[in-house]
Amino acid sequence: MRHFITINDIETAELQRILELSDSLKNDWKAGKHPPLLAGKMLGMIFEKPSLRTRVSFQTGMFQLGGSAMFLGNEIGFGKRESVKDIAEVLSSMVDAVMFRAMKHQSVLDVIRYSRCPVINGLTDMSHPCQALADVMTVYEVFGQLQGIKIAWVGDANNVAASLLQTAAKLGMKVSVAAPEQFQFNPAAVKNLIGGKPFSGFDLELTDNPQRAVRDAHAVFTDVWVSMGQEAEEEERKKIFAPYQVNTALMRQARNDAVFLHCLPARRGLEVTDEVMDSPQSKVVQEAENRLHAQKGLLVWLLNEVNG
Ligand code: CP
Ligand code: NVA
Repeated sequence: MRHFITINDIETAELQRILELSDSLKNDWKAGKHPPLLAGKMLGMIFEKPSLRTRVSFQTGMFQLGGSAMFLGNEIGFGKRESVKDIAEVLSSMVDAVMFRAMKHQSVLDVIRYSRCPVINGLTDMSHPCQALADVMTVYEVFGQLQGIKIAWVGDANNVAASLLQTAAKLGMKVSVAAPEQFQFNPAAVKNLIGGKPFSGFDLELTDNPQRAVRDAHAVFTDVWVSMGQEAEEEERKKIFAPYQVNTALMRQARNDAVFLHCLPARRGLEVTDEVMDSPQSKVVQEAENRLHAQKGLLVWLLNEVNG
């Protein structure tokens, strides 16, 4: 059985197929069409952390595909009220797929071990593969290509950055990551992180200099400096990341037609200014809406094509 836990779980052709399905379902949606490709299917969604986009996109996506989704919050007491094995076996005996937003990446792997249905990673401390689908979908919509496109990541080399990097490697994009040294990807571990041989055109630069990273970039990405679960480090992180704010002066150093992207939620005034968030260069709402279309593409691929 196939699951969707990190971008490295899929081949480049499969990634392209998910993006193609997402785009085609978006066109259907724009035309007011909702093909019931997942009629009668139920998605169980476990959330150990808060969410707006992930919850709404999966629930709306299942609805539009003729199925349904069920929210399960912390009341299920993951590993506390009940063992992971019992939760995974019982839940997967009744639903057709499980989406799990977990505190720890290992928890998602534990669920897979006992699950009788496909499992989707809805964000962990290590990765956010569903976000990366919407990210590259948005870049493609703006520039009409992905191979050779340069993306700059400015800020924490976190879960979202890791999935974006893996995706860029599979699609032959150029990436420059500007982060303070202690929050940068480990250069020795990058090969392992991107897994396998990158697609032709992929290039990676790791730097601590945001100006350098955004030079010639088509898309400038950032994310919060304090991810969910890191609240105790907030004050220290705010000081260290201050020089990494994406503001108008930084955006001016990218290409003239560069866009700004952020997975959201954003802490306006910290990692990004209002001026950038609200500028015509900002495509964050399009990117967020693409979560809906990307989730639908992923669900159809996972449930009807590879596990059909
Ligand atoms: N980008 C994203 O995953 O948003 P939520 O945390 O609101 O789901
Ligand atoms: N890096 C952020 C992403 C939120 C969608 C976090 O993990 O909290």
